[in-house]
Amino acid sequence: MQKLAIQGGNSLRGDVRISGAKNAALPIMCASLLSADTLHLSNVPDLHDVVTMRKLLVQMGVNIVVREGELSLHGAQIDKLEAPYDMVKTMRASVLVLGPLIARFGEARVSLPGGCAIGSRPVDQHIKGLQAMGAIISIEHGYIHAQVPQGGKLKGARIFFDIVSVTGTENLMMAATLAKGSTVLENAAREPEVVDLAHCLIAMGAKIAGAGSDTITITGVEKLHGASHRIMPDRIESGTFLVAAAATQGNIVLHDTRADILDTILEKLIEAGAHIRVGKDEIALSMQVALKSVNLRTAPYPAFPTDMQAQFMTLNTIAEGSAMMVETIFENRFMHVQELRRLGAQIDIEGNTALVRGTPKLEGATVMATDLRASASLVIAGLVAEGETIIDRIYHLDRGYERIEAKLSQLGANIRRIK
Ligand code: EPZ
Repeated sequence: MQKLAIQGGNSLRGDVRISGAKNAALPIMCASLLSADTLHLSNVPDLHDVVTMRKLLVQMGVNIVVREGELSLHGAQIDKLEAPYDMVKTMRASVLVLGPLIARFGEARVSLPGGCAIGSRPVDQHIKGLQAMGAIISIEHGYIHAQVPQGGKLKGARIFFDIVSVTGTENLMMAATLAKGSTVLENAAREPEVVDLAHCLIAMGAKIAGAGSDTITITGVEKLHGASHRIMPDRIESGTFLVAAAATQGNIVLHDTRADILDTILEKLIEAGAHIRVGKDEIALSMQVALKSVNLRTAPYPAFPTDMQAQFMTLNTIAEGSAMMVETIFENRFMHVQELRRLGAQIDIEGNTALVRGTPKLEGATVMATDLRASASLVIAGLVAEGETIIDRIYHLDRGYERIEAKLSQLGANIRRIK
């Protein structure tokens, strides 16, 4: 089990390059199942989840050529329409093969993704939408078995999401690209990663309008062709580094990022006292004043992202004042709280609300990562805590952050990976 050892106290200074977005790369890799041609992807992040998705697609018959930061996916010889439990259980995003498989082949068997640390995370909206498009779906032995009767095609439908779902929107948008007729997704997710997927699908010949709004219209086409697509920058990695710089009274510049999809994060950082300057694909942050507590409430894009809640909680633990933090997306996304308390943080939980009282400092200790973004909040805490912090189970971190300790070391952090 690998660990991270961090000596706190260094301010982050310098330049860091932001990698491609995990939550855009994963659905876009699944889009390769929709065509018999080759999909060329660039700016692909080197992450554990991307490797897992690659293995899942290869075992279905997708031919994948890997180069540094690039993937060429060729979906001509798909011979297995199944996503097995042992792969799905390690990565819920595997459910994103369901829509493409049933759209192109009329059949799919995908293991029901189990819950995970942050919540039960059902996929009922994915299933409801596919049924509305004519798929017959049964749940047998923990697998979703989806079929289109008489080997026919999905039919366009008007689908209303009961709850905003990012991968639900992505799954149904992909399924609709090859359906007969038009599909309208109402109450769709507006996340930038949904828009990036739509751009890739349009480059493959799909007809999609409204991506980025809550109503997306997809007009089915006979088939999709190959394309080249550059994965958008990771807005959550960007936000994570900005919070780390603010927490350590640092001064950094992010490169290859985008400020226009980080509005609420930048606004909260400015409210906390940070000075922010944005360029075409750069964001500079410097912190010269004492941190001020910021209240926040997570909600679907364009509101404050749940994937940044844990990182901002760390900021609030050492800020002046108290902050109310409300998590409205997942029912159990406060796993980092008990770990932050071990470092001396003052946090009270009441249901989905955390009250964080700022303390002058945190003290290094051994803590355990529980999920991807909780791990990031513990790394930030280690950077500011007095003394050494050891973080265990950092495989969670490697799922979503490319070479995080190398990038942080480059910015002056005293951090190393220990076996
Ligand atoms: C995506 O997960 C992201 N993952 C998550 O990022 C992110 O936290 C989440 O969206 C919210 O922004 C990827 O894109 C691969 P949802 P997803 O469907 O699609 C409920 C990270 O750290 N729901 O938008 O699984 C669900 O339980 C990860 O990178 C249903 O009830 O999330 C949750 O409460 C963590 N039924 C809410 O909706 C459904 O059919 C939002 O879930 C689907 C979802």
